[in-house]
Amino acid sequence: MSFTRRQFLSGVAGLAVVGLGAGGASRYWLGRRHASSGHDYQLIAAPLDVELVAGHQTPAWAFGSSAPGTELRVRQGEWLRVRFINKLPVPTTIHWHGIRLPLEMDGVPYVSQLPVLPGEYFDYRFRVPDAGSYWYHPHLNSSEQLGRGLVGALIVEEREPTGFLHERTLSLKSWHVDEVGAFSDFSVPREAARGGTAGRLSTINGVPQAIIDLPAGQIVRVRILNLDNTVTYRLNLPGAQAQVYALDGNPVKPRPLGEEYWLGPGMRICLAIKAPAAGQEIALRNGPIRLGTLRSVANSDAPGEWPPALPANPIAEPDLANAEKLNFNFEWSGAVSVNLDNGAPPSLWQINGKAWDINDKTCADRPIARLQKGKSYIFELKNMTQYQHPIHLHGMSFKVIASDRKTIVPYFTDTYLLGKNERARVALVADNPGIWMFHCHVIDHMETGLMAAIEVS
Ligand code: C2O
Ligand code: CU
Ligand code: CU
Repeated sequence: MSFTRRQFLSGVAGLAVVGLGAGGASRYWLGRRHASSGHDYQLIAAPLDVELVAGHQTPAWAFGSSAPGTELRVRQGEWLRVRFINKLPVPTTIHWHGIRLPLEMDGVPYVSQLPVLPGEYFDYRFRVPDAGSYWYHPHLNSSEQLGRGLVGALIVEEREPTGFLHERTLSLKSWHVDEVGAFSDFSVPREAARGGTAGRLSTINGVPQAIIDLPAGQIVRVRILNLDNTVTYRLNLPGAQAQVYALDGNPVKPRPLGEEYWLGPGMRICLAIKAPAAGQEIALRNGPIRLGTLRSVANSDAPGEWPPALPANPIAEPDLANAEKLNFNFEWSGAVSVNLDNGAPPSLWQINGKAWDINDKTCADRPIARLQKGKSYIFELKNMTQYQHPIHLHGMSFKVIASDRKTIVPYFTDTYLLGKNERARVALVADNPGIWMFHCHVIDHMETGLMAAIEVS
C-alpha cells in the first residue's frame, strides 16, 4: 500500500497550506484555536514510496506526504494538538524530542502509553513551553521505524518576532539504502557494537545533494536538524558568514560557527547565515563531504541586519551550590554473540552496569536514579568507551556546565554529545514528575543497552 499526497490532503480539510518548506517538504498550518479540544494537525503515518536513488523507489514510511515528515509548527506557550493516525502495518508511538511535556504525552511505549496499533489513532495534546527547533519520531522498533523515514521537524516559534525575516529547515538523514534504493540492514550487531550502523545516502529534507535557495544579501535563520539514526555530522560551511544562535532547543549568545560543529544524532543547531551575492553558493559539508548547497538568488530587499540574540526559554536555573551529584557511567559490555541465537538484540552497552532490554516491558519499573521533585542535581557523565554517545534526556532540559575535553560556555540542551572517554557535568532542576528515558541517541546503541529510566517524584 502506498499513500498519496491527495489522500493526505483530503484527510485534513480545513487546513491552509501556507508554504512549501525547502526541498519540497510540505508544511500545513492551521490558524490557532484557543480551546484545548479538537486538533491542529492530523498526522498520518503510512507507507510512502520515495525516490532517493534516481529511477528507483524506496518503500519508506512517512508522517504525512514526505520523509522526513510534515514540519509541524506551533507558537511558544500554546497548545499543540495532533491527532496521530497509524496507517502503518506495525504498532508505533510518537515521541516529541526535546519538548518538556507531561509524561502521558511523551510517546514511550508501556511508560507513557500503549503502542498505537495499525488502524488506531492517538491524540497528543500539550503546551510547548520553549521556543526552538525540536523534532518527533517513534519510540518503538526505532532503528527500523526512524530508519524508514519516520522523523520530522517540530518548530516552536518565539512569542514575539525575532528579527529574522527568512528561515529554512534542513533535516539531515543518511538512508540505509543500496544502489537501487532497497533498504539495507538498519542495525548490524558488529556495527552496533562500534559507532552504530550508518546509512550510505546522505540527504537534506530527503533529497541527496539538495540545493537550497537563499535570498541574496539577507540574513537567513537556518535550522539544521540531525534526524539520523547514527551519524554525527561534522558540519562546516566554508567561506560562509555564519553565526550560531541556538543549540538544540535553546538560544546561545550569538557567536561565529567557526571551523566545524559536531552535530550528533538528535541534535539541532540554529544558524544565522548571511546569504552571499546572487549566483554565489555555499557548500554545507560533513567534514570534507558536501551534503548540499545553499545558493543565493537575487532579491530586491535592502540587505538584512543581524538580529539580536534569541530570548531565553523559561527553564529553571539549577542551584549548583546545593545540588546533589549523581554519577552515570557509560560502558561497553559487549559480547556480540551472547543473545544472537534467540533473536534478541545483543546487550552491548550499559549505564551504571545495567543494560536496557528493549524487549522487557518492565525495565522502566527499575529506574536507575530517583530524583526528588524540585531539587537540583548535577549529573557526572563518564564515557568509558571508545565511541561517542549523544546522551539525551526526556522531559527536562539540562545545563551543560563542564567537560574535561573542551571549554564549555554553559547552555541548556536535551542532548549532549559525550566524546570518547570524556567526562562532562550537566545540571538540572528535577521539576517534571515522571519516568523519563535517558539514553544514547545512536539508535542501535539505545537498542542494545544504552538506555535507562530516571524517576522524578
Ligand atoms: Cu529523540 Cu528518546 O528520543
Ligand atoms: Cu526525546
Ligand atoms: Cu551511543
